[in-house]
Amino acid sequence: MMERRRSRAPALLPLALLLWVTASGASAARVHYLEIEPNMEPVSKPLDEELNRGFSMPEAVPTIVDQAYGFQPEQIHLTYWGSPDKMAVSFVTADAQMPLGPPQLLLLPPFKAYVKYGLSNDTFDKNATCVTTSYIQDQYNWNKSPSYVSPYISHCLMTGLPAGARVWYMVGWPELDTWSPPFNFTTYNATENFPFVIGVIADLGTSFNASQTMRQLERTKPAPKLLLNMGDMSYADIYQPTGNQGMNPKEFRYKLGYQPRWDMLGRMLQNLTKCVPMMTTPGNHDVEPQPDGTVFASYTTRYPVPVDKDEVLTLLNKHSEGHPSPDNGLYYSFDVPGVAHFFALTSYIPNDTFSKDTQQYKWLEGDLAAVDRKRTPWLIAFFHAPIVTSYEDSFKQVECMRLTYEPLFYKYGVDLILNGHVHAYERSKPVYNYTLNPCGAVHITVGCSGKPGIETGSYALDTKFVDAQPQAPFCQDPKLLDKKPNPMQPLRCHTYQPDRGGFCWNKQPEFSAYREAAYGHGLLTLLDRGTAVWRFNRNNDHLRRPADSFVIRRAKNSPCPNRADIWP
Ligand SMILES: *[C@@H]1O[C@H](CO)[C@@H](O)[C@H](O)[C@H]1NC(C)=O
Ligand SMILES: *[C@@H]1O[C@H](CO)[C@@H](O)[C@H](O)[C@H]1NC(C)=O
Ligand SMILES: *[C@@H]1O[C@H](CO)[C@@H](O)[C@H](O)[C@H]1NC(C)=O
Ligand SMILES: *[C@@H]1O[C@H](CO)[C@@H](O)[C@H](O)[C@H]1NC(C)=O
Ligand SMILES: *[C@@H]1O[C@H](CO)[C@@H](O)[C@H](O)[C@H]1NC(C)=O
Ligand SMILES: *[C@@H]1O[C@H](CO)[C@@H](O)[C@H](O)[C@H]1NC(C)=O
Ligand SMILES: *[C@@H]1O[C@H](CO)[C@@H](O)[C@H](O)[C@H]1NC(C)=O
Ligand SMILES: *[C@@H]1O[C@H](CO)[C@@H](O)[C@H](O)[C@H]1NC(C)=O
Ligand SMILES: [Fe+2]
Repeated sequence: MMERRRSRAPALLPLALLLWVTASGASAARVHYLEIEPNMEPVSKPLDEELNRGFSMPEAVPTIVDQAYGFQPEQIHLTYWGSPDKMAVSFVTADAQMPLGPPQLLLLPPFKAYVKYGLSNDTFDKNATCVTTSYIQDQYNWNKSPSYVSPYISHCLMTGLPAGARVWYMVGWPELDTWSPPFNFTTYNATENFPFVIGVIADLGTSFNASQTMRQLERTKPAPKLLLNMGDMSYADIYQPTGNQGMNPKEFRYKLGYQPRWDMLGRMLQNLTKCVPMMTTPGNHDVEPQPDGTVFASYTTRYPVPVDKDEVLTLLNKHSEGHPSPDNGLYYSFDVPGVAHFFALTSYIPNDTFSKDTQQYKWLEGDLAAVDRKRTPWLIAFFHAPIVTSYEDSFKQVECMRLTYEPLFYKYGVDLILNGHVHAYERSKPVYNYTLNPCGAVHITVGCSGKPGIETGSYALDTKFVDAQPQAPFCQDPKLLDKKPNPMQPLRCHTYQPDRGGFCWNKQPEFSAYREAAYGHGLLTLLDRGTAVWRFNRNNDHLRRPADSFVIRRAKNSPCPNRADIWP
């Protein structure tokens, strides 16, 4: 299946690469410094509109039902804490409450949660206390809907782990002698981690299709060592448990959505996340603005990220004290030694201007300047909304972000940019500023891991390309897209390519290598400094038959100035 067709590759090289190679006097057939090889011919499967529904799993389905009693831990997930000797584990205890009245912050238990861990399944010689918290979503003061008081949410940090070792752990409450079963994970090696397999998901929710995506990933061999989840985690904000679905949102009973879907998501993920760390970045459906201005309450309370390498809960503590700090923890980075530097951004910082004066931009400048490509030869970005897409839905929605950030990505030679948001699959050729460029990044949208549909009406996956005829009205008048700023609608910028269609495109843009609406997940295998293999696996296909796959192959004498230092 990983068959390569070298003979075909030159014909498929980006035009810009051929021009560069020719101009430099080298042979186009031999000097491939960023060679993109399709190792198969992708064939679109037409999407049966009848199947494009994304039905949410009913609450009684075992995959998402609460099977934990009393203080039994559930929704267990690992977060890689930035170096091989550290791993965070999070879990949930007890039941959510949905009072028909103003929510009260939950009284925390008078004793602490613990993680105990060690190198075998019956010797847990180390332990650490966990930080336990809870969040509220006030719907009562909004429209007299039931509010939500979360269960206890605990985060624990395991430290001093040996590199490249199988670690066993249990989480629970020693005072009650209530523990999870022992689970195990393998820590990364201290310096060498090739080949490194990454499972890539986004826009999951708790549909049957999302569950199918996770089961596919669970069956992947070799198992992924890391999961990247590019946001729109639960879609709790648009879920309605009874009635009015697909009707006028003004009539929704739960104006701010139905928070228990977050708990269901945690259960659906646990099979994988209890043994494979998952790194997250939020999407627009994770903003969840509340009447008092709180944003990201559920996301930040449930999914910690390694902002502070020594502590799990700096951000969350601030949050639970009623001081949401939206910038803190919404962007971060981490290294997998010897393999890659990863960084997460967000397009949904309230009122973000995407200018170079923002905290997020300044942070990224400093972060990228500090990357040592000899130690981490791959540079991978992941965030929710794509800056390069040719689907009609969300087209150029974060164009302001692209205008500011793409030059920085290019300067530092970002290899891959992984996104969701558009509920479909698309893979670009190496591109910079909408022009093919062998030193540019490959953009991949995988916003199709399980987006739930709205039962009585609309579709789930996005099927319309921006170059489709007849074109959307906004192609003639992009001002139709402008809306009042709100946290879920990033600031708009409009750019034009007069020779190629204007605001939209008049045909599939050159940069767009392959696009298809299908449920599935991505699998990225970083084989060595010079080679990466990407696959997109449809849910309905056998894992060994990817829907799309390509290889990035980098020659040692790479003349891309922005990747000059990837070789020792
Ligand atoms: C977890 O995996 C087990 C064994 O394959 C399966 O029986 C169970 O349904 C899975 N649970 C979820 C929540 O997917
Ligand atoms: C611990 O591992 C041993 C073998 O290594 C196995 O027999 C035993 O069932 C395991 N115990 C648990 C609780 O998983
Ligand atoms: C944690 O480890 C300490 C030191 O080994 C030990 O005294 C204590 O009993 C342990 N606590 C738990 C809850 O396992
Ligand atoms: C370690 O965890 C993995 C993933 O849950 C599981 O498949 C495996 O059986 C466990 N290893 C042992 C030795 O039990
Ligand atoms: C650590 O290195 C060994 C070989 O030295 C390899 O088999 C193993 O897969 C590596 N571990 C990880 C997490 O990559
Ligand atoms: C979504 O899941 C349903 C239920 O498993 C399945 O029938 C349908 O084919 C899936 N849809 C797509 C587009 O894969
Ligand atoms: C964002 O801007 C709106 C409108 O100017 C303002 O009401 C709101 O307080 C701002 N939000 C934040 C978090 O700054
Ligand atoms: C991107 O291309 C446009 C023309 O399409 C040009 O005006 C602009 O300067 C370019 N930006 C960069 C950073 O190269
Ligand atoms: Fe989405």
